[in-house]
Formats: sequence, structure tokens, C-alpha cells
Amino acid sequence: MELDKCIKERRSVRKYTNKKVSWSLISKILDSGVRAPSSGNIQNYNFIVVQNAKKREEIARAAGQLWMLESPVFIVICNNKDKIKKFYEEDAEHYSVQNCAASAQNMLLTAYSLGLSTCWVGSYDEIALQRILKLPDNVKLEMIITIGYSDIKIKEPKKFSVDRLTYFEEFGNTKK
Ligand SMILES: Cc1cc2nc3c(=O)[nH]c(=O)nc-3n(C[C@H](O)[C@H](O)[C@H](O)COP(=O)(O)O)c2cc1C
Repeated sequence: MELDKCIKERRSVRKYTNKKVSWSLISKILDSGVRAPSSGNIQNYNFIVVQNAKKREEIARAAGQLWMLESPVFIVICNNKDKIKKFYEEDAEHYSVQNCAASAQNMLLTAYSLGLSTCWVGSYDEIALQRILKLPDNVKLEMIITIGYSDIKIKEPKKFSVDRLTYFEEFGNTKK
């Protein structure tokens, strides 16, 4: 699928069919995640693939988003802070989240190109998920990606236009 089409058509989907997602597709999505840019190529993330129904339910409840239950696969993106702190001091925090986000976006687009639907989930009870997923103290959950097949078509939510959001040479200057 053309990248442009993928970028324009990808939507956050919160309704899925019960069709199983094959491991070969999941692994392609994960592979796209590790190919994202990261500061110093440090790749301070770990991914947790969650398919177990009971665990997915615990996660959906900790997120307070029960729609997630319909999605058969979650990819949890964790920020391995120790890994990045070895290389960067005060900038570690700043870079580490960006590295996870770049990886997440690659996964969303790859999933869409493979005929799958996704949603980025960033709202959850962090402490509960730390326990559910047995995350060590130095590892922080940054986002969850729900993945599945969907038969619904979602209209693009209204987006600000490029003109409205772009300045030239300095903040606030709208003249090219
Ligand atoms: C950082 C971040 C956190 C988000 N958290 C949630 C979430 O917790 N639950 C949810 O349903 N959608 C979540 N979304 C999806 C947004 O609601 C969605 O991207 C936005 O409404 C635009 O729709 P689109 O993705 O279809 O363009 C999140 C997206 C981002 C980037």
C-alpha cells in the first residue's frame, strides 16, 4: 500500500471483529517498530505482545476502556529507562518517550498497510499495569496499541489544516 494512502486512511479504531491476527502479521508490525529512528539508535523500548484473553481484560479494565476487549492483540510499548540513562543524562527523559512514540507510529502504519486496524491507547492506571505486566521499576509503560480486524469504516475526524499550523522562519509568522 502507498505510504500516502496509509497515512491518510489510518484511523483509530475501537471496534474489531473476532478474526484472529496471524503471528506473521504481528511479527511484521513488531519489526517495523524496531526500524524507527531513535536517539543514538539506542532503542530503549521493549514490546510486550498480549493475546491472552484474561490478561487483555485486566489491561482493558486498568485502562477503563472496555472497548479494548474486542481487540485480540495488544502491543504494549515499554520505555526501558536504564538503557537510555547510560547514554544521556538530563535528556534521557525527553528522548526516551520520543523513541517509543516513533516506534508506535511505525507500527500503526504498518498494521494498516497489512489490512489491520489499530488504536493508540495512552490513558490507563499506570500502577495497576506495572503490576499486571510485571514491569520492573526502571521500565515505564508508554503506550498500548490495540490491533485487530475491523469491518467498520470511520470518517476522518476533523484535522486542523496545514496552513493553520505552519509558520515560516519563526513562531507565529504566517507569511512565506
Ligand atoms: C498519545 C495518544 C494517546 C491516546 N490515547 C487514547 C486512549 O487512551 N484511548 C483512545 O480511545 N484513543 C486514544 N488515542 C487515539 C486518539 O484519540 C486519536 O488518535 C485521535 O482522536 C485522532 O483520530 P485518528 O487517530 O483516527 O486520526 C490516543 C492517541 C495518542 C497519539
